[in-house]
Amino acid sequence: MSDQRESTATAAAPGSSPTKGPRLLTGSPIAAQIREDLATDFAAFIERHAYSPTLAIVLVGADAPSAVYLEQILRTCQKVGVQGRLVEIGVDVTPDAVCTEIERLNADPEVAGIIVQMPLPAHIPLRTVIDSIDPAKDIDGIHPRNAGLLSLGYDGFLPATAQASVEILKRSGIEIAGKRVVVVGRSNVVGKPAALLLLREHGSVTVLHSRTRDLGHHTRDAEILVVAAGRAGLITGDMLSPGVVVVDVGINVVGGKILGDVDFESARHVVGAITPVPGGVGPLTNALLLSHLLRAAIDQAQRRVRAHATTSAAATSAAGSTPSTARPTQ
Ligand SMILES: NC(=O)c1ccc[n+]([C@@H]2O[C@H](COP(=O)([O-])OP(=O)(O)OC[C@H]3O[C@@H](n4cnc5c(N)ncnc54)[C@H](OP(=O)(O)O)[C@@H]3O)[C@@H](O)[C@H]2O)c1
Repeated sequence: MSDQRESTATAAAPGSSPTKGPRLLTGSPIAAQIREDLATDFAAFIERHAYSPTLAIVLVGADAPSAVYLEQILRTCQKVGVQGRLVEIGVDVTPDAVCTEIERLNADPEVAGIIVQMPLPAHIPLRTVIDSIDPAKDIDGIHPRNAGLLSLGYDGFLPATAQASVEILKRSGIEIAGKRVVVVGRSNVVGKPAALLLLREHGSVTVLHSRTRDLGHHTRDAEILVVAAGRAGLITGDMLSPGVVVVDVGINVVGGKILGDVDFESARHVVGAITPVPGGVGPLTNALLLSHLLRAAIDQAQRRVRAHATTSAAATSAAGSTPSTARPTQ
């Protein structure tokens, strides 16, 4: 889906009038600003280092939602002036062969970032694939090293969707500190990291999941509600408190339409602000992912410069020094 279509959908969303309905927290304008800054920064990087950093997207097997997502991310790469490389691997591949392909990308100096499209086919163990990504190129923060850094509150690559769900609140001027924040979903890529990031912002965070009893009891308590369950219309208006701020991360294709996890029609009469689907978290996710690519490219270029300087210094010192075997004895 293009940003054009997303912003059109946003403009047409029910309740988008400034006088009626809730405030719409749209991601497209924020994403456009980030992309503009990134285009400038990537141009400066390319001029300085004489290569364009590549984002490698590993796709094992293929399904329709992946195709839509991949189209979006490749287009975002184009917009900011970097290379997007789609690495397609047939569904009949072995886990070892997938890891070998990822190791090849780890070793490729032009590849600054690697993402692996989920879900993987059932016979490919997720953990094996995740472990094989170089953490320095893991720009969607799925490697245990980056996940660990996040949970400890240290800098690392953040899962872009989780980051986008928090960033859209911050950039819309919504205070998180001290608020009762409820997250629906606890996946490693969205719910759990979003909860950790909201905790980092000093929210009082509750996490709900498929075994939670009486979902509405908890969601009604929320001042900020982040929903990442992958169930179209799971959250309805009667499960919300008046004035709540809702971030709907869900992307569900139903009858050819893209729907969120929140039933917009019933929610719009209750909420104070809500992210539309599409046009909310989605556009911001891609822009943030490419900001991670820039950071990875800069880190890797600096590391290469340091390694080169160390090698040159060692060579100079070796050439200038007299081998110990040739030194006169005292
Ligand atoms: N906007 C974007 O850029 C973007 C990017 C990635 C994903 N998404 C969307 O975000 C949604 C979540 O993605 P995901 O990868 O986190 O999905 P996931 O791995 O399937 O996880 C879904 C989570 O929701 C919980 N859940 C499912 N049904 C529930 C229910 N009835 N009540 C309460 N909790 C329930 C699950 O609980 P259990 O743990 O108990 O199973 C699980 O923790 C999907 O719609 C996906 O398409 C959007």
